[in-house]
Amino acid sequence: MSSQEKIAALLQENRLFPPPPDFAERAHVKDMSLHEWARKDRLGFWAAMAERLHWFKKWDTVLEWEPPFYKWFVGGKLNASYNCIDRHLTSWRRNKAAIIWEGEPGDERVLTYQDLHREVSKAANMLKSLGVRRGDRVTIYLPMIPELPIAMLACARIGAIHSVVFGGFSAESLAGRINDAQAKIVITADGGWRRGNVVPLKQNTDEALKSCPSVEKVIVVKRIGHESLVHHNWVEGRDLWWHTLMRNQPDTCPVEEMDAEDPLYILYTSGSTGKPKGVLHTTGGYLTGVAATTHYVFDLKDEDVYWCTADIGWVTGHSYIVYGPLAEGATTVMYEGTPDYPDRGRFWDIVQKYRVNILYTAPTAIRSFMKWGEEWPARYDLSSLRLIGTVGEPINPEAWIWYHQHIGRGKCPIVDTWWQTETGMIMITPLPGVTHTKPGSATIPFPGVSAEVVDGAGNPVGPGEGGFLVLTEPAPAMLRTVWGDPDRYVAQYYSRFGKSVYFTGDGAKKDENGYFIIVGRVDDVINVSGHRIGTWEVESALVDHPAVAEAAVIGRNHDIKGQAISAFVILKEGHQPSEAMEKELKEHVVRKIGALARPEEILFTADLPKTRSGKIMRRLLRDIAEGRALGDTTTLADPAVVQQLKEKYEATE
Ligand code: WTA
Repeated sequence: MSSQEKIAALLQENRLFPPPPDFAERAHVKDMSLHEWARKDRLGFWAAMAERLHWFKKWDTVLEWEPPFYKWFVGGKLNASYNCIDRHLTSWRRNKAAIIWEGEPGDERVLTYQDLHREVSKAANMLKSLGVRRGDRVTIYLPMIPELPIAMLACARIGAIHSVVFGGFSAESLAGRINDAQAKIVITADGGWRRGNVVPLKQNTDEALKSCPSVEKVIVVKRIGHESLVHHNWVEGRDLWWHTLMRNQPDTCPVEEMDAEDPLYILYTSGSTGKPKGVLHTTGGYLTGVAATTHYVFDLKDEDVYWCTADIGWVTGHSYIVYGPLAEGATTVMYEGTPDYPDRGRFWDIVQKYRVNILYTAPTAIRSFMKWGEEWPARYDLSSLRLIGTVGEPINPEAWIWYHQHIGRGKCPIVDTWWQTETGMIMITPLPGVTHTKPGSATIPFPGVSAEVVDGAGNPVGPGEGGFLVLTEPAPAMLRTVWGDPDRYVAQYYSRFGKSVYFTGDGAKKDENGYFIIVGRVDDVINVSGHRIGTWEVESALVDHPAVAEAAVIGRNHDIKGQAISAFVILKEGHQPSEAMEKELKEHVVRKIGALARPEEILFTADLPKTRSGKIMRRLLRDIAEGRALGDTTTLADPAVVQQLKEKYEATE
């Protein structure tokens, strides 16, 4: 049998993969008792999970609610930085590697918990010396270097709220996020390495700050060291070098006693309408959720080397590079660059070099590895791996099987974890010592999490039937609100199915065993390589161009990225479609949002399919872009429009 045929056979069998016996024997969770406990006493279970943390004062009430607003561990006092660092200093862990960092050019840094304590304390004192106080917002726009988690934990230490902006976002996106949060300080770097090139973060920051009056100071980490990256626009009095400021800071800094419900951070994410919204996470519930899931989902042991390949600019990095692993006293690996630099073996080189035991990555990366060929991982010793995971988008069974065979070498359980920026922590997932996994399914909710698949009226659907994924009970790590816009929080998440049911925006179904299969977004959010982008954002960027009259954007299937952005554009009179115009519009979107939003293709058209009430019918555009027979067109104002578009699309392929 060819490997293709083998895979096809595997899929037809629809096999369940039981946990390997030697893994199960040593796992934290060996049976369903955790799930049962949580089912019988949900709040008691979460209270026990919260006990995993260090509290300066215990809470009075586990959960207080007035749907859709929830408060967890009310009256409790704690500090996230203390939980991620200080509490590990009293044991042998103080000399344990907290962060193992590798830069893209191959430079390395290892920070023990004691090192982390010193650096974070100094950074906290640095922020204080610049006037940062409890509740102030600090925007962090850094590459994947140790100063990024150091800055986050420094904010947490003094009660400042961080807002990390992914380094791939444009100056304009950065400005929007700084202004929404009204940040006082921006922490950035001269640049970061990406595939051998420099990302000019300081230059982007300078551009952004032309429209950000709230910012008083910019702290600049010297990562690259090229004078030209900073010199052209260094603003005396505003711009300060990180290393100069850090030099004389005291290396201890008392922690603020934060209320369980005090904000920890804001993280912007795309929704179905409007600009990205600031998802607000608070301290006690969030840390409880990420610590518990890190422990149980990854079956994390003290001796493990754990590597999550996400960028800290996204929630996966916040929860599963920084807060979860450090709260658990783990060794967490951080890598600055891309998987194909200097060659396509870079990830496997890192696994081999640091003897990584647990690897957490994304389906889009796995599909790239598949395309590059199994000979790349085969060249390295991956025998240290004992558990592998995925997150960010649905994983197709072929990719699951490939990951299982070529990375897990048939012996590592796979945890396919479903969650969102808004949920803060993993919500649907196998527990690797007990759950039988199934390719393409995230399996069942984590203990203490209640999920359901419902129809449009909110009633649960039967096995195999498609519906909407909802969460029927609050969980501690979930967002508390949208920063500065509670109405949007209610409208976005708690209006579709009522005030006490959280709508995820995802479509899903359950199989006969109650396993969840997440199909993807059912709203106007596109998931490109695991990154969320709103159609509205890309459309606004396009119509911002002087040649564009109207634009409609959809996500279409893509072999590697999961989804790719397709744009349909009507040009203004006097402008002609051309390759040059297509290129210019793509660049315009990159300038406005960032490279992650670059449309895969732009189709120029004279008209767009609209309903009689004037709504663009994206469903039809998706049918066209994915080459399907056209669905129902009877509600269209002018059915000829789609037919013409379809012919045109096929002609350009
Ligand atoms: C999708 C990333 C299928 C889903 C942590 C969700 C997934 C969105 C999975 C959140 C998974 C995430 N299987 N789909 N295991 N994990 N998704 O906010 O559509 O960047 O709503 O959070 O990614 O993306 P976000």
